[in-house]
Amino acid sequence: MAALLRTENISKAFLFQGRLMPILEEACFAIEKGEFVSILGASGCGKSTFLELLCGISKPDKGHIIYQNQEITGKSGILGYMPQDDLLFPWLTVQENAMLPIKVKNGSVSQAMDRSRELARILGLEKHLHHYPWQLSGGLKQRTAFLRTCMMGSEVLLLDEPFANLDALTRILLQDWLAEISKQLHLTIVLVTHDIDEAIKLSDRMYLMTIAPGRFETIIEKKQFSDKAERRQVKQDILDHLIRGIKEV
Ligand SMILES: Nc1ncnc2c1ncn2[C@@H]1O[C@H](COP(=O)(O)OP(=O)(O)OP(=O)(O)O)[C@@H](O)[C@H]1O
Ligand SMILES: [Mg+2]
Repeated sequence: MAALLRTENISKAFLFQGRLMPILEEACFAIEKGEFVSILGASGCGKSTFLELLCGISKPDKGHIIYQNQEITGKSGILGYMPQDDLLFPWLTVQENAMLPIKVKNGSVSQAMDRSRELARILGLEKHLHHYPWQLSGGLKQRTAFLRTCMMGSEVLLLDEPFANLDALTRILLQDWLAEISKQLHLTIVLVTHDIDEAIKLSDRMYLMTIAPGRFETIIEKKQFSDKAERRQVKQDILDHLIRGIKEV
C-alpha cells in the first residue's frame, strides 16, 4: 500500500551558542492510512522537532514531506497536532477550547458546534462541555486536548507524549481509550512516547530514532511482537537500543 504520509530525507539544524547543530539528518518515515505508528528515542534526539516539521510549525532545511501524494513541506493546518505541553486556555470551557481551531481557520461555527458535541460524545466528554479546565481531572484535560486536535479536521493526528504527565492507572485507561477511538474515528496516528509498553501495546509499527542527529534507524513491525515472550524480548531490545544511543553520545 502507498504511504498516506511520508518524509523524504528531511534534515534540520538549530543554532546553538553560535554553532549550527544538526538535530535531524535525512529522516525517512512513512505511515499508511489507518496505521498507528509510534516513535521512540532518547530525550533530545529530535522527536518533537520531527512532529513540528510534519505539521508545518517549522520548515526542514532539506527534504520533503508528502501527504496524499502532494508536497506539504512547511504548510500548517493540514495535519492534526497535539503538542507535548498542550495547554488548554483556563478561561475557556471544554467546548470553547475545542472550537479554537475553527476560529483560527474561520470555519463555519454552527457546523463546528455540532461536530464538537458529536466528538465530545464519542470521547466521553459530553457531560463536561461547559466545564473549565481547572474543573477537570488530568485524564479529562488530555481528552479535551485530544478533542481540540480532532477539531482540526485531519484524519492524521500527531500526538507528542499525550499521556506522559498522568498517573499510571489513568494512563492505562487512556491508552485503551485511544486504541478504541482511533479505530472508531478511522484515524491515522503518529505517537511520540517514552513509554515502551505503551508503544508495544498500541502500535502497528515502531520507529526507533538515533540521537543527535536523529534518524529513523530501526523499524519494528507488529508481527515481531505478537506473543508475550516476543513482546518481552522486543521491550529489552528497544531498551538496549536507547541506552546504547545515549552512551555513544
Ligand atoms: N527552536 C529551537 N531552537 C534551538 N534548538 C532547539 C529548538 N527546538 C529544539 N531544539 C533543540 O533540538 C534538540 C531536539 O529537541 P526536541 O524537543 O525535538 O527533542 P525530543 O526528542 O522531543 O526530546 P524529549 O524526549 O525530551 O521531548 C534539543 O537539543 C533541543 O534543545
Ligand atoms: Mg519532545
